[in-house]
Amino acid sequence: MRLRNIPGAKDAIIDSPYVIQEPESKKGCWASLFPKRQPLHIEVGMGKGRFLMDMARIHPDINYVGIEMYDSVLLRALQKMEELEREGQGLPNLVFMRMDARLLPEVFEQEEVGKIYLNFSDPWPKARHAKRRLTSREFLVRYDKILEKNGVVEFKTDNRDLFEFSLEEVPEAGWTLVAHTFDLHNNEEMMQGNVMTEYEEKFSSMGNPICKMVIRR
Ligand SMILES: C[S@@+](CC[C@H](N)C(=O)[O-])C[C@H]1O[C@@H](n2cnc3c(N)ncnc32)[C@H](O)[C@@H]1O
Repeated sequence: MRLRNIPGAKDAIIDSPYVIQEPESKKGCWASLFPKRQPLHIEVGMGKGRFLMDMARIHPDINYVGIEMYDSVLLRALQKMEELEREGQGLPNLVFMRMDARLLPEVFEQEEVGKIYLNFSDPWPKARHAKRRLTSREFLVRYDKILEKNGVVEFKTDNRDLFEFSLEEVPEAGWTLVAHTFDLHNNEEMMQGNVMTEYEEKFSSMGNPICKMVIRR
């Protein structure tokens, strides 16, 4: 997702109480940034943040961090958070950062993160861009450096090629496939507790089956 550059987005992000500035300085201290000490889950490539806002409301016993690399996209999430706050529905267990996920190991300590969500990640279809895919072995190495011992990565997409690539990367990177489906919305067990992302709603309403995998080391 890349929206047209929005003038003032950078300043709005710097001034926002919902955005963690200089996230590298928070390495090892994430728990103290939230009102309650509780497990920390992150979404990498959160887009406009709808999934995490719903998750944070449904699971007040989890702290969430949303990571997005484009100002214009993150700004949309901030505007929605302000709207929720005005309506008295603020989410104290959710913050964001504007960052390229390649820097994750510089921002989180070993075992600081309990779960990583990857939702409808950019497919980067050209073979020479495979390293940029958020489920590539290069990214799995980064997740390995920040996840708790029993932590998992949950990945959803409607892109069959990206999903098949990801299925191949899992064993190559020394990870284990815990569960997977090529049609999440018709899989009763894996659908339990499913929260739809913005892209999931869009693509499933077009009739695209949604693939999901859960992996661990
Ligand atoms: C296709 S959108 C999906 C948005 C949302 N997760 C959903 O399911 O509706 C993917 C998002 O991931 C972000 N993204 C891609 N690569 C990233 C990276 N390396 N670090 C941080 N964000 C990234 C993009 O900017 C984009 O907003």
